[in-house]
Amino acid sequence: MSSGIRFDRVSVAYGRTTVLDALDLTVEPGEVMALLGPSGSGKTTALRAVAGFVRPASGRVFIGERDVTALPPHRRGIGMVVQQYALFPHMRVEDNVAFGLKARKAAKSEIAGRVAEALEMTGMAAYAKRFPRELSGGQQQRVAIARALAVRPGVLLLDEPLSALDAQLRSGVLAELARLHRELPDVSILYVTHDQVEALTLADRIAVMDRARLQDCGTPQRLYRAPRTEFTASFVGNANLLAVTVGGAGTVSFGGFELKADTGEAVPGAAATLCVRPHLVGLGDGPNALTGRVTEVQWRGATHRLYVEVGGERVKADVRELRTPPGIGDEVTVHFAPKDAVLLSAGVTDG
Ligand SMILES: Nc1ncnc2c1ncn2[C@@H]1O[C@H](COP(=O)(O)OP(=O)(O)O)[C@@H](O)[C@H]1O
Ligand SMILES: [Mg+2]
Repeated sequence: MSSGIRFDRVSVAYGRTTVLDALDLTVEPGEVMALLGPSGSGKTTALRAVAGFVRPASGRVFIGERDVTALPPHRRGIGMVVQQYALFPHMRVEDNVAFGLKARKAAKSEIAGRVAEALEMTGMAAYAKRFPRELSGGQQQRVAIARALAVRPGVLLLDEPLSALDAQLRSGVLAELARLHRELPDVSILYVTHDQVEALTLADRIAVMDRARLQDCGTPQRLYRAPRTEFTASFVGNANLLAVTVGGAGTVSFGGFELKADTGEAVPGAAATLCVRPHLVGLGDGPNALTGRVTEVQWRGATHRLYVEVGGERVKADVRELRTPPGIGDEVTVHFAPKDAVLLSAGVTDG
């Protein structure tokens, strides 16, 4: 069964506080959409509105063609995995995985087959008879995913499923989720996370949330290379956000330097922000050269991070590890290609 998810101006409020503000968002059938944003931005609330655990104050939620806004959770055809694996401690793995099927009164013969299939898919077939306490955190989360998949949902909702795992387990389960998605190309996945690496790794598209509102939505590459807002630029990857003044066609001024950049429709004289990724800033002379004083040098193994003060503003450059890095107070020149700079116009907040 292939069904997308559609939020149609969905708002949720607790008391007088709006925690989800007129969300418009479509997850295409078979797509992985990450909801990315800081804590408290409304991600879980959006997911719970799809699951049916919170009722929107206004707007509608669709799964496939069906308006599910008034449907109870168990009739929505969803599978859900949350941060704390929430397995039943007194049940063996196979019974945990069978739980949703039993609740739906599936036939006994069918249940055995579906449980085996779901455990196979998550690589947990050998652990069917174990209790949750006999499993590692990563294994428990795999069982939780198997339990969600056993009902063959059209839609899979994942709420920070890796955040309780340590870093090494996290990347293992992340790879596992990517593989699962390839094996289940029809299942639409809404993946809530505050971790940009998870979103960049897994998602076909990322919806960036901040303060109850959708800020931007697009492919990981588009958000990274051409963010529309300062929030997106700094939340998806590292960014230099340079306060510039738009000059004549194709130029901006920054800290007393004139730089080339695609200024699009920007009006000469307007204040704007130029976004440049630190790893695209090179040391030495070149196009869009800026000269200033080094205020900090950080060795990061494969790279050096240099902080350079230019006309009272700070520019970050991530360069390949230097044999002889500059010292604090040294004068250096850094540069970046005009095509690597994105002009963000002031006041743009909606994507
Ligand atoms: N049951 C609740 N009652 C009151 N406020 C809530 C409730 N659930 C969430 N909130 C508030 O709604 C806002 C958004 O929460 P949430 O959707 O959980 O954010 P996120 O998942 O992005 O961290 C937060 O300010 C949170 O405190
Ligand atoms: Mg949350």
